[in-house]
Amino acid sequence: MTDRYASFVQSAAGRTVVKRLGLPDPPRLRRHHLGDPLLPGPALLGAATGGRLAEPVGTILTAAGVELRDAGSTGPQDRFGALVYDASGITDSTQLRQLYDFFHPHARAVLPSGRVIVLGTPPQECPTPREATAQRALEGLVRSIGKEFGRGTTAQLVHVTRAGSIAADGPAHSAGTTTSLASTLRFLLSGRSAYVSGQVIRVGAGEATVPADWERPLDGQVVLVTGAARGIGAALATVLARDGARVVALDIPAAGDALAAVANDIGGTAVQLDLTAPDAPTRLADHLASRHGRVDVVVHNAGITRDKTLGRMDADRWDQVLDVNLSSQERINDVLLERGLIPSGGRIVSVSSIAGIAGNRGQTNYATSKAGVIGLVDSLAPTLRERGISVNAVAPGFIETRLTARIPLVVREAGRRMNSLAQSGLPVDVAETIGWLAWPASGAVSGNVVRVCGQSLLGA
Ligand SMILES: NC(=O)c1ccc[n+]([C@@H]2O[C@H](COP(=O)([O-])OP(=O)(O)OC[C@H]3O[C@@H](n4cnc5c(N)ncnc54)[C@H](O)[C@@H]3O)[C@@H](O)[C@H]2O)c1
Repeated sequence: MTDRYASFVQSAAGRTVVKRLGLPDPPRLRRHHLGDPLLPGPALLGAATGGRLAEPVGTILTAAGVELRDAGSTGPQDRFGALVYDASGITDSTQLRQLYDFFHPHARAVLPSGRVIVLGTPPQECPTPREATAQRALEGLVRSIGKEFGRGTTAQLVHVTRAGSIAADGPAHSAGTTTSLASTLRFLLSGRSAYVSGQVIRVGAGEATVPADWERPLDGQVVLVTGAARGIGAALATVLARDGARVVALDIPAAGDALAAVANDIGGTAVQLDLTAPDAPTRLADHLASRHGRVDVVVHNAGITRDKTLGRMDADRWDQVLDVNLSSQERINDVLLERGLIPSGGRIVSVSSIAGIAGNRGQTNYATSKAGVIGLVDSLAPTLRERGISVNAVAPGFIETRLTARIPLVVREAGRRMNSLAQSGLPVDVAETIGWLAWPASGAVSGNVVRVCGQSLLGA
């Protein structure tokens, strides 16, 4: 499926019609291509008085080849690929005025598909109620900028734990923070995060390993992708292989031909297995142990819908959806972890859905399973952190695949437009986001649920 309206709007005739009728105007999004610079223009970097993050952020951006500017050296004609602001120094609501002072003069100076990133401290870690209040206020600013700036600009809030900085490198912070924050900043600034906006991302204390080459951030990693024969799973296999991973692509036997084509295309291997089969976890563990001796990254992507309103839903529809989307993930995690096949530095990434956050009519089974995936991340993250393994979820919004092609036309069209970017996402957008969470460099990102939804209004 393609978003024909979004393509039409890019044409000369489309532009005229959209302007005349005041119709939604989805911008063309900047997506990642090998060799692209991180940003289409310089980054303006600012900080509230007393901030602890501007220095490591400056180091990360400079190392990434980004031209840095500060507010004192800009002219009225200057345009920026990103506005980046360290708000960690804000400890009282009266100091929030510094945000206005930084963003107001530059609000109309952001290039198309630009980026706004605000960095702060998780409110629950703040030592005083006033600081926690002021830090919580940052969310409102970021989410509004995501809705206001337009032209494909995205906005995110990155919470950097204080405990993490101190544990990593002592009171001076910067070396440990520079390592733990680099992957997240690079992802958010790049075209990889095209369809991610309005998110709060927490960067904590886990071990992060900086890659030798940021164009191959998964070099040599053994990655399992379930549901890899088509849709988001096929895009995942392609993106993760491009980033250097050795991909094990899994799908049901009935999808064997499509699965083989995906695996051949990327030089990966194919495993035909129904995840709900009673012996699936042991067969999968045996396969990974004998072929690779381990699995560094497990991506639980396979999922199904069997929609009906609850009163009309037979028990089979309920059982199948819960089993594929949630229980099979738990069983596979248990066996792989018990057998020690996911080493320290390993990653588990599960695919949830905004239906699991907002709920959806006709999808009680699906939303239950996808909310359960969020519960799985919340409950596993603290214990797995002790083993050096991160666990996160992505929650896609409206992504163009066969799953969404089944939605009735009017609902489908509404689903495509009801977000800040006025368009649907592509499978590659979910794949790039999962890729970032899977990188060895992202060890400090755990327990997060990142929406890939263009800042959808659902569940916002
Ligand atoms: N497309 C969207 O807009 C969207 C939105 C939110 C979440 N998601 C989630 O993203 C994931 C991928 O969705 P998609 O749109 O690519 O769907 P899709 O239907 O195109 O692909 C799903 C794949 O999973 C495989 N699969 C299903 N049951 C399996 C089983 N028992 N064992 C092994 N493989 C099995 C299928 O054969 C298929 O290849 C799903 O978890 C879905 O719930 C999708």
